Amino acid sequence: MDNVSQIKQKLDIVDVIGSYVSLKKSGRNYKGLCPFHGEKTPSFMVSRELQIFKCFGCSEGGDMFNFVEKIEGVDFSQALEQLAEKADVKLEKKGFGGKALLKNKMFEINELTANFYHHLLTKHASGKKALKYVKKKRKFSGSTIKTFNIGYAPKTWDLLQQFLSKRGFKTQEIVQAGVAIRKTSGKGCIDKFRNRVVFPLKGINNKIVGFTARALGDNQPKYLNTQETLVFQKNAFLYGLDRAKVEIKQKGAVCVEGSIDVITAFQEGIKNVVAPLGTALTINQLKTLSRYTQDVTFCFDPDPAGIAAAYRAISVAEKQNFDIKVVSIPKTASDLDDLILKNPSKARLLLKNAASAYDFFIADNLKKFSPKTAVGKKKIIENLKPLLSRITNKILLEHYTKHLSEELNISEDILKEMLKTTKKEMKVQEFEEPATEKGMSKTNVEMYFVALLLKSDIDTIKSLLYNLKPEDFESLTLSRITKQLKKEKKKINVRKFIDKLEEEVRPAAEELFLWEIEPKNLGTEVERAYKRVKRRFLRKSLQNLSKEIKLAEMQEDTRNVADLTTKFEKLKKKLL
Ligand code: CTP
Ligand code: MN
Repeated sequence: MDNVSQIKQKLDIVDVIGSYVSLKKSGRNYKGLCPFHGEKTPSFMVSRELQIFKCFGCSEGGDMFNFVEKIEGVDFSQALEQLAEKADVKLEKKGFGGKALLKNKMFEINELTANFYHHLLTKHASGKKALKYVKKKRKFSGSTIKTFNIGYAPKTWDLLQQFLSKRGFKTQEIVQAGVAIRKTSGKGCIDKFRNRVVFPLKGINNKIVGFTARALGDNQPKYLNTQETLVFQKNAFLYGLDRAKVEIKQKGAVCVEGSIDVITAFQEGIKNVVAPLGTALTINQLKTLSRYTQDVTFCFDPDPAGIAAAYRAISVAEKQNFDIKVVSIPKTASDLDDLILKNPSKARLLLKNAASAYDFFIADNLKKFSPKTAVGKKKIIENLKPLLSRITNKILLEHYTKHLSEELNISEDILKEMLKTTKKEMKVQEFEEPATEKGMSKTNVEMYFVALLLKSDIDTIKSLLYNLKPEDFESLTLSRITKQLKKEKKKINVRKFIDKLEEEVRPAAEELFLWEIEPKNLGTEVERAYKRVKRRFLRKSLQNLSKEIKLAEMQEDTRNVADLTTKFEKLKKKLL
């Protein structure tokens, strides 16, 4: 058996996905909030029997490998590695086997390095000054230092390398892990971090992927980070997420500018905080975050750079459908860390009362441009239009148009009109209506019936299909599915049944099985659906008959007209 089959046999997709998304049983399937797009009501379905998932909102779907690739943002071979580890399956060594080995070495090096530095900071004389810095200046408690595994990289050139090579690591590997660098002039390598407080960066699988290190004093650069390595991708990394993810699921996320803000907030009991590492927030980071929540509060420094960062972050998060709030740190503090140290209760209150991004933007624009002049009004509306036209909630929309119309002294109708046009344009560009039961078209009556049929017992299937000709189905796909259903003799195993279908029909059958239709009484519901389908077939036959009658009349074939009319009347009675 190949690795993929082995893994699939050992793992259940419901457990794999269940460790990222909270799933609820829904009939024979499971449902939850889709981690790939923002939604408030679940349209994300997972099937234990089919071992697949499908979101009816954004139409992502596939098997457990597709899921891991998508949610972890990795390629197939990385997903394979992750699932193999979970399933305790040894991968046959092909190309990626060597890479996995190398990655493991890097994790080991990082782990040893973190512990080495932590030891120097907390136990060794060389870390005394640094310990004073973190305790006195940054106000970190002993337990905080331990929790975040904070360390000290000594002033020496190669102490870490000596330590690691004693543990059997080659220079090449140490450099690849990012904790040592090749000298730009001359031969050999030096430790990357020297005379710095070191913060290990933990990935969500709890492995250390790299480090960020702060100078003790005013030495430049202030921060030094691990470069991109085999295990560290900076633009998808969020500091603190490993520890914050559970709280984030419950309370939403607070996003700050620096790692120290995360630590100080955590120490203060605010545990749902994360930070990018010295970059503007990227789409990858938000995607990572969206696995845990759709609620994010941006907390930015009060300077113009901070505000600009907020605008940028909001526009990226908007596109990912986040519910966004914004907190602006008062000018008396430089960032969240500073505010917490100066006035923790104020920091708490500020986060608790975070304004929606709409309020933040409106206030900011009213400050920047004059709401009294024509040019100012125009500018303000232009700036706010892209944001406000995305509001779908009627109460929110009413609230903000009213508020803005008062501030700008412009009629609400005009404002609404302006916002509406953009929304329409947007809808065409960005959204595709999901196939819901409500909006069922004619073909969907058939789809609904077959979806129910797939979950029915073999006797029901037999008796209902007995009177239907597969050819009568308007959709060729459904006709092929029912044709196969008609051939079934024993209790249906959906997976096996679907695998018997022609390949191009399988996705449709899988999707129908994942439809969230779990009527209280499947028997009566499928019966009702059957009647509706049957009626449609009858109506169609009647239409055809009436066409034939017309033709016969034109040909003045009275005998045929009479025959056809009798047939027509008979059928019509059935319909009533
Ligand atoms: N940063 C960086 N490299 C620098 C400066 C900053 O990577 N040379 C990143 C760090 O992740 C830092 C964040 O940008 O946390 C925000 O920078 P800044 O506000 O200057 O630092 P603080 O987090 O406030 O750090 P401190 O309180 O120690 O000054
Ligand atoms: Mn700071």
